[in-house]
Amino acid sequence: MIVLGIETSCDETGIALYDSERGIVAEALYSQIKLHQQYGGVVPELASRDHIRKTLPLIREVLTRANCSGKDIDGVAYTAGPGLAGALLVGASIGRALGMTWNVPTLGVHHMEGHLLAPLLEADAPAFPFLALLVSGGHTQLVAVQDIGQYQVIGESVDDAAGEAFDKVAKLLGLEYPGGPQVARLAQQGTPLRFVFPRPMTNRPGLDFSFSGLKTFVLTTVQEHTRDGPLDAQTRADIAHAFQEAVVATLTIKCKRALQQTSMKRLVIAGGVSANTRLREELALMSAQQNARLYYPKLQYCTDNGAMIAYAGCRRLMAGQSDDLAFHARPRWSLETLPPLAALSR
Ligand code: KG4
Ligand code: ZN
Repeated sequence: MIVLGIETSCDETGIALYDSERGIVAEALYSQIKLHQQYGGVVPELASRDHIRKTLPLIREVLTRANCSGKDIDGVAYTAGPGLAGALLVGASIGRALGMTWNVPTLGVHHMEGHLLAPLLEADAPAFPFLALLVSGGHTQLVAVQDIGQYQVIGESVDDAAGEAFDKVAKLLGLEYPGGPQVARLAQQGTPLRFVFPRPMTNRPGLDFSFSGLKTFVLTTVQEHTRDGPLDAQTRADIAHAFQEAVVATLTIKCKRALQQTSMKRLVIAGGVSANTRLREELALMSAQQNARLYYPKLQYCTDNGAMIAYAGCRRLMAGQSDDLAFHARPRWSLETLPPLAALSR
């Protein structure tokens, strides 16, 4: 089965073709970073308008690259949520329209299921069951995954997501949007242990996260060091370093606890923050100590992309799931409400 995947939930237009026999056959990604940079973050209305401009030309480009036409496509998958309502509607409308034109089934995919299944695109894919740490700009969740669609969220952030904290700290340090990769780069020049920031919610039981206090801690530290003038370059790097270490340590402590509680031996990380090198290093170390193995997608599939949507869509379309005529964009949508794949194919 060949499935066209369309991702338009935020600031990236991602298009891909996934063939259940051959894997990803072609893909294209357009990032709106330049468009939003002057505003310091994503402007939803501009995002929607840009998805309208880019989605169809990118689909044409991907089909040409794969030497395919509409006749070769067996299904269309688009991100139905969670995300920005207007941006989601662009992908949903185009996906549904193409499905009708080509007379093939379409399916609205859960964006976080896309992230969660992205490591299955790798040659060395994790087997089920596994524990997943989803760390994106909008979500920080620990999920016990029994199979596709059998998800139990066992921990999540009570306020900011880890990626969101990276982005906000980037702003405090005067770095450009999107902040995560910039904070990570700056942190490399930081002096270890000049600052030590708290590891929120780690000294009490439970698997939930909170990152908003850590962001305030960074703000206070920046204020203390800007009383007599702007932050000097080394102090900025030292703050970035201490912040990244605090986030990484917090995520690692919670993943260790979750592995112990669930007795799982596979840990999967996905979403934009899973691209973070320090996080990968620390989680690999901890997993080895727990006799577990760490899995993550290749870098280009950590952040938003069309391939993960085409893949998740293909798995579900092959099991017989598809949209009815009424389609919805779901800006808020719980992973736990998705139907188990096993029940669909029965
Ligand atoms: O998954 P994603 O592309 O979009 C959402 O679904 O939100 O994640 C984007 C988030 C942003 O907050 C970005 O700053 C963060 O992932 N991010 C990183 C890194 N690369 C992206 N955070 C820390 N280190 C990185 N290397
Ligand atoms: Zn995402």
